[in-house]
Amino acid sequence: MAETPSRGNPSPSGSNPGPRLTDVKTLRQRARANLEEGAVTPGYGADRDTVVKMLNDALATEIVCVLRYRRHYFMAQGLSSESVKDEFLEHAGEEQEHADRIAERIVQLGGEPDLNPATLVTRSHSEYVEGTSLVDMIREDLVAERIAIESYREMVEYLDGKDPTSNRMMRDILAVEEEHAEDLNSLLQGLKAG
Ligand SMILES: [Fe+2]
Ligand SMILES: [Fe+2]
Repeated sequence: MAETPSRGNPSPSGSNPGPRLTDVKTLRQRARANLEEGAVTPGYGADRDTVVKMLNDALATEIVCVLRYRRHYFMAQGLSSESVKDEFLEHAGEEQEHADRIAERIVQLGGEPDLNPATLVTRSHSEYVEGTSLVDMIREDLVAERIAIESYREMVEYLDGKDPTSNRMMRDILAVEEEHAEDLNSLLQGLKAG
């Protein structure tokens, strides 16, 4: 029978140490301890309170973005408003998806999603600006996206190597915010040219 590679055993040749994996016995013991911690195991590499606070800031940012995009969707008027309205609505939906993913992750980490409307705007990194004209609205949305991009990039850097799941989630969200910014930039350029 062929020998299967196993955790915690030194490599047969001794020259190649292989990946550093915790041995099965320790893994099993650690998983049994503190079961009430759910998804958070002893190997969790980040400070959980810091991550929950950080994710709650991102959650507030997303919710404010949902509200701002929806306001803009309803208020957009004028000749070129139809395609812009579609874009606003699409973005609002995607920001809501981001909010949901982040809230779910906060709960997995043993925290509570903070959706208190009284403090949402102060905790959000981006602002709620209503905007008067179509161009105004798009410009404000672009500003908000650029703020989100900057702050999410910092979160990704912080989470790197400490919390791979939150890190991957924030990377995914960051990529969508970059698409949003590019969409808005194209809309702005289109309106200027038209
Ligand atoms: Fe988002
Ligand atoms: Fe966005």
